[in-house]
Amino acid sequence: MKNEMMERPVVQKELVTFMREGLKAFDGKLGEVEAYANERRIPIIPHETAVFLNLIVGQLKPKQVLEIGTAIGFSASLLAQHVGEDGHVTTIDRFDIMIERAKANFKKMGFEDRITLLEGDAADILPTLQGPYDLIFMDSAKSKYYEFFPYCMDLLKLGGMLIIDDVFQGGTILHDEKEIPKRVRKIHRRLNLLLDLVMDHPALETSLVPLGDGLLMIVKKEAFDFFSILEIEEN
Ligand SMILES: C[S@@+](CC[C@H](N)C(=O)[O-])C[C@H]1O[C@@H](n2cnc3c(N)ncnc32)[C@H](O)[C@@H]1O
Repeated sequence: MKNEMMERPVVQKELVTFMREGLKAFDGKLGEVEAYANERRIPIIPHETAVFLNLIVGQLKPKQVLEIGTAIGFSASLLAQHVGEDGHVTTIDRFDIMIERAKANFKKMGFEDRITLLEGDAADILPTLQGPYDLIFMDSAKSKYYEFFPYCMDLLKLGGMLIIDDVFQGGTILHDEKEIPKRVRKIHRRLNLLLDLVMDHPALETSLVPLGDGLLMIVKKEAFDFFSILEIEEN
C-alpha cells in the first residue's frame, strides 16, 4: 500500500514539508477522505499535488472527466467538485478493496450520480470508452502509462488536458538504466519512452511540474495517431 516515491520527493525535503503542511487543508468530507488515506498510507496524490489539481481544474471547469486509478476516491471526488451538476467523472480501478471504499466515499459525499466507477483493468476498459473528455487524470500503474497514452489522446477532445502523476521515479528517471534496480527497470524504460514522445511532439503542448513525484501535463493541440508510433517490447 505504501507509496515509497512520496518518501523520495524530487524537491528539497523542507520545501515539500512546507507545501504539504502549509497549504490549506480541504474542508469537510473531502478533507476526511484525504486524512483517512494518509493515516493508512493508502497511495493517494500528495497534498501539494491535490491543491494544485484543485486550483487548475477549478479554472478549467471541465464537464467530462476521466480518471485512471481511483483508489478510495479522493482525487475523483476532488475532480467531481468542479464538473458541476451537468458534468460527470468516470473513474477506473481494478482493486476490489479500493473499489468498495471508493463507492462508500462517493455515497458519503453525495457524488453517486456524478461519478461512475468502472471496475476492471484499464487495459480492457479504455478501448471501450467513447469520450470525448475535457480532462483525463492518469494515476495508475506507471508501467502502463506509455501503453495507455494513445487511448488517452484518442479520448481527449481537441484542446483537452491530460495530467499524469508520478513520472520522475523519485528523481531517478534520468539515471542510466544500469543503475536502476531490475524490478523497476521496465517502469523506468517506459516512463522515459513516454517523456521522449511527449516532450516536444508538435501535436502537443507539454509541461512538467515538480510536485509530488512529478506531474506531466499535456494539452492536445492537434489530432495525431499515437498508436502508430508506439514501441511496446515484451518485457
Ligand atoms: C495511486 S492509486 C490512485 C490514487 C487516486 N488517484 C487518488 O489520488 O485519490 C493507483 C490506483 O490505480 C489502480 N490501478 C493500477 N493499475 C491499474 C490498471 N491497469 N487498471 C485499473 N486500475 C489500476 C490501483 O488499484 C490503485 O487503486
